[in-house]
Amino acid sequence: MCGIFAYLNYLTPKSRQEVLDLLVTGLKRLEYRGYDSTGVAIDSPDNKNIVMVKRTGKVKVLEEAIQEHFSGGEYSKPVLTHVGIAHTRWATHGVPCERNSHPHRSDDGNGFVVVHNGIITNYNDVKTFLAKRGYEFESDTDTEVFAKLVHHLWKTHPTYSFRELVEQAILQVEGAFAIAVKSKYFPGECVASRRSSPLLVGIKTKTRLATDHIPILYGKDADSGKPQVLPRSESTSEFMPLEEKEVEYFFASDASAVIEHTNRVIYLEDDDVAAVRDGTLSIHRLKKSLDDPHAREITTLKMEIQQIMKGNYDYFMQKEIFEQPDSVVNTMRGRVRFDGNAIVLGGIKDYIPEIKRCRRLMLIGCGTSYHSAVATRQLLEELTELPVMVELASDFLDRNTPIFRDDVCFFISQSGETADTLMALRYCKQRGALIVGITNTVGSSICRESHCGVHINAGPEIGVASTKAYTSQFISLVMFALVMSEDRLSLQQRRLEILQALSNLADQIRAVLQLDSKVQELAKDLYQHKSLLIMGRGYNFATCLEGALKVKELTYMHSEGIMAGELKHGPLALVDDSMPVLMIVLRDPVYVKCMNALQQVTSRKGCPIIICEEGDEETKAFSSRHLEIPRTVDCLQGILTVIPMQLLSYHIAVLRGCDVDCPRNLAKSVTVE
Ligand code: F6R
Repeated sequence: MCGIFAYLNYLTPKSRQEVLDLLVTGLKRLEYRGYDSTGVAIDSPDNKNIVMVKRTGKVKVLEEAIQEHFSGGEYSKPVLTHVGIAHTRWATHGVPCERNSHPHRSDDGNGFVVVHNGIITNYNDVKTFLAKRGYEFESDTDTEVFAKLVHHLWKTHPTYSFRELVEQAILQVEGAFAIAVKSKYFPGECVASRRSSPLLVGIKTKTRLATDHIPILYGKDADSGKPQVLPRSESTSEFMPLEEKEVEYFFASDASAVIEHTNRVIYLEDDDVAAVRDGTLSIHRLKKSLDDPHAREITTLKMEIQQIMKGNYDYFMQKEIFEQPDSVVNTMRGRVRFDGNAIVLGGIKDYIPEIKRCRRLMLIGCGTSYHSAVATRQLLEELTELPVMVELASDFLDRNTPIFRDDVCFFISQSGETADTLMALRYCKQRGALIVGITNTVGSSICRESHCGVHINAGPEIGVASTKAYTSQFISLVMFALVMSEDRLSLQQRRLEILQALSNLADQIRAVLQLDSKVQELAKDLYQHKSLLIMGRGYNFATCLEGALKVKELTYMHSEGIMAGELKHGPLALVDDSMPVLMIVLRDPVYVKCMNALQQVTSRKGCPIIICEEGDEETKAFSSRHLEIPRTVDCLQGILTVIPMQLLSYHIAVLRGCDVDCPRNLAKSVTVE
């Protein structure tokens, strides 16, 4: 969903080439957010103008174009540069092409250039307003209106500072956005802001800042709307410019783009306007709210650079699949005590009594995150003895679902930024429900807007198709179910059985990963087919849905996850001797019913691939193609059965020549509804 990256320095400028390299590397880290087109804007050789280079396609194409553009001629002289902005796009308004690529400009003199993530919903009105004032538009994007609006304000309010111009423009636009603006009229400066789309400021200094709080210097008077200096909060010393201004700033859509430069970031809040001028960062809050502390804190990132590199793997997705023995342990680390059978979820422990008194639990998410809710619903019902609803965030909002003060609503999201999920969160919060966030991204909007939550600690997930986040979301919800049943005597045996299985899980995942070459062989049988049906029921129905989603998004083959109980109500008509079918048949309470489905398929000449338990000869006898997985407790089977599905979709994608980490038309973090 579009990535923004901007770089600024002050006392020690870098060469143009160094700044361009920084921008390109930043974009590479953000590429998973969108890869339809890319672009950069940087000062011209005389530092009086702005040069833009844009290309359709991935960052690699831009990198080559930059090399070509800046070699020889007027560019051969070394030039010191302070500011550059960059963008990688996932197209929403306007097809992917160079004309619609960011940065967008205010005029042919490149007075103001803008990179933007999100959607300006009233762009048509703004466009009409500007067109009447003589502005001509050169793209189909909503973003271009912003650049031109700032330009119009600059012409009509010549005394405004750069920050004030951007602020005035922000007040005129509606929708969700994160933006960064550069101007030839304000050299060395950059202004950035966000509303419902993520944006952070990375700060790299040789010396520490005088304070780890950046107070908000200005606000708007609620009644008059006039700017005013806000009273300082007690926790905050006055914002001091650095004693030594050897400072570099980064604006980025997420932390992975800045971690190789600095681990110190400020996550901007909605309607914060961050401006850098003469090496000083100020954050101006456009809207004053009583529960908003005046200070913005500097957060120290725990992420390591290795976590966002591919290492020896060919693709991020492959690396992330193989990281699962470790990522599931990291999800449980410090939370599950296998010796004392105790579980503590620090982020929600104070709310457990309130949760126990609730009317119902609602689990809300999109895509893979939604599937983790489907996967754990049955266990949650069993161990919490509460009604549990699972909802797709978009559908939940479409229905204006009734929500009550005594509902507890879980919002599950790897990125913590998915617009549908975030909107559903705000909807439930307004109605007084308790909001629990289950996210993988510290500092994300869902994280910050939840009352309490569990961070799944899966580590950065870069492949667009979610893998390790799914298994960690799954385990987080299982841990929550275990916490809720801690004092239920009748459930202790069951809890022990699950805890025991959790302690073996990492080794069992390792065993399933050993199936990789066998799965690759199966992929060779399947990759030229048009479709794949995946069937199962009970605890494994979620694996069918998730497996089919992985196959669709990575391989562009049709695939459907089918509840085995529904087979005879329609899908059986699809089965013949040529339709690829995969069936999950494990020794659990629905085994007999799964065997019925298996027989229905084979009696229609279907030749299913079977996922069954190790050594289950009786089930294996139904097909020559099978994958055997270790035995575990029923409610955790879904973790072991999903891994062959992840591997299968990965291998089919490779065989079909698809771009595994960047499937067509998709982006990792979907920040528009
Ligand atoms: C599929 C996938 C998506 C996401 C969905 C929600 O592999 O990654 O279906 O699960 O877009 O994203 P998050 O979890 O970030 O809210």
